[in-house]
Amino acid sequence: MRHFLANIALYVIAAFLVSGAALFALMRSTQFVLTDEETMLAHYRPAAGESFEWRELGERTYVANCAGCHGRDGTGRDQYPPLATAAALLPMHGGREYLIDLHLYGLASARRRAPMPPMGHIPDVALAAAMNHVLVEFGQLQLFAPAELLITPAEIAARRGAGIRPQDVEQRRPR
Ligand code: HEC
Repeated sequence: MRHFLANIALYVIAAFLVSGAALFALMRSTQFVLTDEETMLAHYRPAAGESFEWRELGERTYVANCAGCHGRDGTGRDQYPPLATAAALLPMHGGREYLIDLHLYGLASARRRAPMPPMGHIPDVALAAAMNHVLVEFGQLQLFAPAELLITPAEIAARRGAGIRPQDVEQRRPR
């Protein structure tokens, strides 16, 4: 009798394991994906002008994609320019478009010995957040411009797909 009960218990456990594995396989095959924060944010499109939580994402995106060249604090080195001056370009005529384009399509000027590579692989929300990180943390934008001037993900999305060359981006820099 004891053997019989032990066998039953074993079969029950085995049945649980098999159905668990089957459920797991089913979830995998139907692309049941528990998405990460960045993927979710990439699909989130706030309306223009709406403020969004850029601070933490902006710092993270900057450190991962920009700090290698421009330095963690944005002071630059050698051929990599310091970023504090970018904030002054923002309120200028065409400055906003120029700044967004240089991130999406890169920049090749005679001022520096190296070009800035295109950063268009970064999702809209993360790129807008990184730009705001540069403008506020390094450029102290808040000292001379209202918060409405911050970059929104929708603006980045709107300027994608133009296929501008890095040399042409330079032509659009406000003088
Ligand atoms: C591989 C190195 C490299 C990386 C990575 C890089 N940059 Fe640059 N960046 C440059 C160089 C070089 C220039 C200057 C290009 C020129 O003047 O031709 C530049 C220029 C700039 C400018 C100044 C434009 C101006 O007109 O004054 C800004 C702002 C900027 N980068 C922001 C960023 C941000 C934000 C990131 C990350 C999303 C980033 N860069 C990633 C190399 C880099």
